[in-house]
Amino acid sequence: MESIKNKISVAPMVDKTDRNFRNFVRMINKDVTLYTEMITAQAIIKGDTDYILGFDEVENPIVLQISASNKKEAYEAVKIAEEYNYDEINLNVGCPSDRVSGNAMGAYLMAFPELVAEIVHEMKKATKKPVSIKHRIGIDGKGVLPDSFDRTLLDRYEDMLNFINITEQAGVNKYIIHARIAILAGLDPKENREIPPLRYDEVYKIKKEKPHLHIEINGGIKTVAAIDEHLKNVDSVMLGREIYDNPMILSEFGKYYDKEINITRKEIMEKMLSYVEKMEENGNRPHLFLLHTHGLFHGVKGSKYWKREINDSKAGSETLRRLLLEVE
Ligand SMILES: Cc1cc2nc3c(=O)[nH]c(=O)nc-3n(C[C@H](O)[C@H](O)[C@H](O)COP(=O)(O)O)c2cc1C
Repeated sequence: MESIKNKISVAPMVDKTDRNFRNFVRMINKDVTLYTEMITAQAIIKGDTDYILGFDEVENPIVLQISASNKKEAYEAVKIAEEYNYDEINLNVGCPSDRVSGNAMGAYLMAFPELVAEIVHEMKKATKKPVSIKHRIGIDGKGVLPDSFDRTLLDRYEDMLNFINITEQAGVNKYIIHARIAILAGLDPKENREIPPLRYDEVYKIKKEKPHLHIEINGGIKTVAAIDEHLKNVDSVMLGREIYDNPMILSEFGKYYDKEINITRKEIMEKMLSYVEKMEENGNRPHLFLLHTHGLFHGVKGSKYWKREINDSKAGSETLRRLLLEVE
């Protein structure tokens, strides 16, 4: 099965890209590819799968991102997820978190391409859906990788190429590349998204060298102009923080889908109101959904006021109805 060829995707973000946020994105844009948060294979195997894996039809196209450190767990988790009909399954080889690398998952796995290939091979046995990999351009594994490694700084272009050469043998044909290295010891995840410099050229180079692969670029991309520039060099673009903080940018992406998106903030608030009313009818507190909408008025008058009202833990349909009267 072919991987998703969509031009734009919303990055997987723990505590952000949950079902509520994904529904919010769909109120603005129906086309971009969505990702779940990273879910560990163990959580899928041991957890309440409907709660962890359930999603609404409007969320398609949607990719499930898992992390796994061994092939058995990866197989079991993907087998369970098969019931839910995700469009693609993605393996996280980019997360720098101690918790994740301490468990031999995430970016740490970049040092073990053969193991990643085995994990993917098992994942592909468990699903007919395409399997993609999200990774970094390299890692600094000093203090973390075993002593048997003669080099712990795996940040050369050739290291990434080697990782891709080996893992593509397992049948991966799409790579989402966060264009900076991950420093496994000494930086926290937030710093690891800011401090290592972006090296977009190396992602472009991979696409040139391996034109048969679908290469998606990620990291620090914030504008349509930047997206257009990247699309001259790679197949697709993934944005994370900018979409979370400034969701109206999603309305500028119509051009990638041959359409215009003219939705106003007021119309989005009306959709939010219906969603919140349904949550309340079902006895669910809308607080966590509303938190995800904090960026709706980003860069325009009223942004601070909106955030304050929405962040109130008691905010709900009443709040939205009142705010709707205040917007033009
Ligand atoms: C709060 C937060 C949580 C994240 N969680 C994940 C995750 O679960 N899986 C993953 O592959 N990347 C995760 N990332 C990294 C993003 O997917 C993305 O690679 C990174 O933010 C760079 O893209 P950006 O500059 O467009 O935000 C997370 C980023 C943030 C800000």
